[in-house]
Amino acid sequence: MTRSLEAHARNWDLRHEDFNDPDFLYEVYRVMRRQSPFARTDKPFLSATPAGAWVAVRYAECVQILQDWEHFSSNPTPEGAEQLAGDLVITLDPPRQQKFRKVLNPYFSPARMKALRPQIAAETDRLIDDFIESGSGDLAQVAWRQPGIVFFKYLLGMPIEDVPLCIELTDTALNGTSEDARMAAWGGLYQHLHDAVTARTRQAPRDDMIDVLLSAEIDGEKLSFPDVVSNAMLLVQAGLETTASAMSFAYHYLATNPAERDRLIDDPDLLARAVEEFIRFAGSIHGIPRTVAKEAELSGCSFAPGESVIVNYAAANRDESEFPDAHRCILDRRENRHLGFGAGVHRCLGSNLARLEFQVGLERVLSRMPDFALAPELQATFHGNSVTRGFRSVPVVFRPGERAQP
Ligand code: HEM
Repeated sequence: MTRSLEAHARNWDLRHEDFNDPDFLYEVYRVMRRQSPFARTDKPFLSATPAGAWVAVRYAECVQILQDWEHFSSNPTPEGAEQLAGDLVITLDPPRQQKFRKVLNPYFSPARMKALRPQIAAETDRLIDDFIESGSGDLAQVAWRQPGIVFFKYLLGMPIEDVPLCIELTDTALNGTSEDARMAAWGGLYQHLHDAVTARTRQAPRDDMIDVLLSAEIDGEKLSFPDVVSNAMLLVQAGLETTASAMSFAYHYLATNPAERDRLIDDPDLLARAVEEFIRFAGSIHGIPRTVAKEAELSGCSFAPGESVIVNYAAANRDESEFPDAHRCILDRRENRHLGFGAGVHRCLGSNLARLEFQVGLERVLSRMPDFALAPELQATFHGNSVTRGFRSVPVVFRPGERAQP
């Protein structure tokens, strides 16, 4: 490590290379939580506050901030707002944000998402077919591609031939090695979504996400065309890498903990609870900012209007005062009020979809390659960007199986 735990805890910079070791990052969070409910960062991400930002790291304060949108607004600072395109549900406050949710929530209902289960299973099987006969493969490929295929093909109804490119553009936009590469990929993705929405305005409705956005009426007005495209972009940002990161973590965990893998195979009823625990423990999101809208006082700390507070869901999810044995991944954990999907008015819109993709992703792998284990002599690789973190490769070996589809 290039810096000590204490130095990192004094000035948290999620992009620091030391945090490519996830265990070290959680050690830093432990120090941050011990010292104070609010740490500091000079390098806030997703928030344009040059003077730095507060970082909420304990469970209780994170919940309080997430539930108090009147003091801790999702509407960014004026500088931050300039970087945004459009009226996005995630950067609005009630009452307008609630009106957006009213339009979007029904689409993501448990019943509606459940109806996608056969398609999600078939797509996952197709990805596994790519390597099932060889006895070795990379489970990160399943984790990273499955949510993208489901999203672009079934939720947005994009032409099938565009799906691989859209997944690649999303990945480069979030993880590209240079600012230029990331910006170019965002531009490319925006153009694809723009074209897809334009095409759909001339076609009969198909009752997918684009139609929901195109027909949405808020305060008696339809969403503008740029707002439809921007909210579709938001869903791409919010829904793909988050799910992929958590799923990649679960594959890695099970590939390195055979007793836990076998336990899930023997007792599939455990899957739902295991998925919640993986989301708590893997912490795919490490922080989303709030802007102080009105002077506030919380746990002895004063906040002035215009300041930025990053809510660190991942640090809160390891808080021992809420989760006994917080540093153990306990697949049948019972009390699990984790903040992986947030809390309050902005609680994750896509949690039912994420849970379903995750469960099906685990279930298909466990049933088709029950003996999978990390490949000897090959390294799993971990990657973190400024918002999400997960494994980019999980090389595994297993007894070869048959393809599910010819
Ligand atoms: C394991 C996967 C996922 C995790 C860990 C996750 C996590 C979160 C969190 C923490 C928030 C709260 C943000 C805040 O407090 O400002 C959030 C909001 C949101 N999520 Fe997810 N998410 C996941 C999957 C998805 C999926 C699959 C979609 C949709 C396709 C989605 C769409 C959204 C949207 C649109 C919001 C904003 C809601 C609002 O502002 O009212 N998420 N998510």
